[in-house]
Amino acid sequence: MASEAEFIIVGGDAATQSAVTSAMSEDVGLAYGGACPDISAMANHLEQQSALVVFVDVDSAPDPDRLFRQLELATAQHPTTRFIVLARELSGGLVMRSMQAGARHVQAKDAIADELAGVVQRLVATATAKSSEAGFAVTVLSASGGCGATTIAVNLANELQILMSRQVLIMDLDYAYGAVGTYLDATGQFGIADVREQAEEIDAQMVRSTAVRFSEQLHVMLSPVSTGNLDPPPLTSYRLDSVLLACKQGYRATVIDAPRISMEVAATLARASVLTLVVMQPSVKDTRMAKALLHGLRQAGVPSERVQSLVNRCRSRRMVPLGDIREALGVQNVESVTNDYASVIKSINYGAPLSESAPRSTVRKELAALASQVQARLVKHNGSA
Ligand SMILES: Nc1ncnc2c1ncn2[C@@H]1O[C@H](COP(=O)(O)OP(=O)(O)OP(=O)(O)O)[C@@H](O)[C@H]1O
Ligand SMILES: [Mg+2]
Repeated sequence: MASEAEFIIVGGDAATQSAVTSAMSEDVGLAYGGACPDISAMANHLEQQSALVVFVDVDSAPDPDRLFRQLELATAQHPTTRFIVLARELSGGLVMRSMQAGARHVQAKDAIADELAGVVQRLVATATAKSSEAGFAVTVLSASGGCGATTIAVNLANELQILMSRQVLIMDLDYAYGAVGTYLDATGQFGIADVREQAEEIDAQMVRSTAVRFSEQLHVMLSPVSTGNLDPPPLTSYRLDSVLLACKQGYRATVIDAPRISMEVAATLARASVLTLVVMQPSVKDTRMAKALLHGLRQAGVPSERVQSLVNRCRSRRMVPLGDIREALGVQNVESVTNDYASVIKSINYGAPLSESAPRSTVRKELAALASQVQARLVKHNGSA
């Protein structure tokens, strides 16, 4: 599958590299991303492509002090990567230095064949279990075709990764016109339909290896349309809970673009989300649809404080006033996003989020503010973001 989670090797002779790759060919589920001659080369590699596990051979380093200083920087910069030190002899001093530099394990080279696969399996499992405590989802529903739901979802995901400096997944559940891939210029062979059809249990590793990368911190789960699968089984709530759990285990945040879905699917997503946005335009037609969606979510037991209506493309003239929309919807929790066609279309045409294509635009600032509100909710709910 595209962009599998990787392991890479830093330094080391051919015998060590081959011992590691053969130990890792056991059922660890990580693809070999290659060998880097030193930590600087590894840092460049990690900028292009993240790795779940990095093996650092310390015997071959010409200047061990420098290597440990560089390793300390790398472990701080890549908190989700597990660094494992490889050494011929394990002295107490070496183990202490490795741990101080942030390595998770120090492996004696002569026991690689016997021990390494088990060590890596445990480290990867802990990575998954830890992140499962923290991940959250935001669902973006749409009150009408073209109301701007994908624009909101993509930019919210992007602003969240900037704000939190953590990995965020944008998941495209638009089985009809899925456009997230186009908005982020991301292509791939596999996506959400493939995850749902896997015979095996769906887990974080599977989600992460199927997602494609817009950047180190923003990953994309493509819709079937974007992967050339024009006839996928329809989107039902079957296995959606497992998908969402795996997303939360694999990512700090998952933003779901979910237009044109059944009420049952909307309710499943909303129940698993810290916030559900109902995106609409300031029109009578959209207000009616939004009202029906809000009602359906209430009926399905989704707490009203976890649902927010978002009126997109607001301009001062020729629109239903926000006060009237609040009244018609019967809720106060209604936010707005300004109409700025030039900035939004530029972003879509560039295949890049507003933070890159129109960083100073009002619409970008509003979506950054929306991300801050989401973070504030988390602090309120969990005591931390
Ligand atoms: N805040 C905005 N200001 C101006 N134009 C916008 C805004 N948000 C979205 N648009 C424009 O509206 C159009 C539709 O946007 P988008 O694809 O995000 O909507 P959608 O609801 O996801 O559509 P679809 O029903 O196809 O999934 C795009 O041309 C986009 O440029
Ligand atoms: Mg859309």
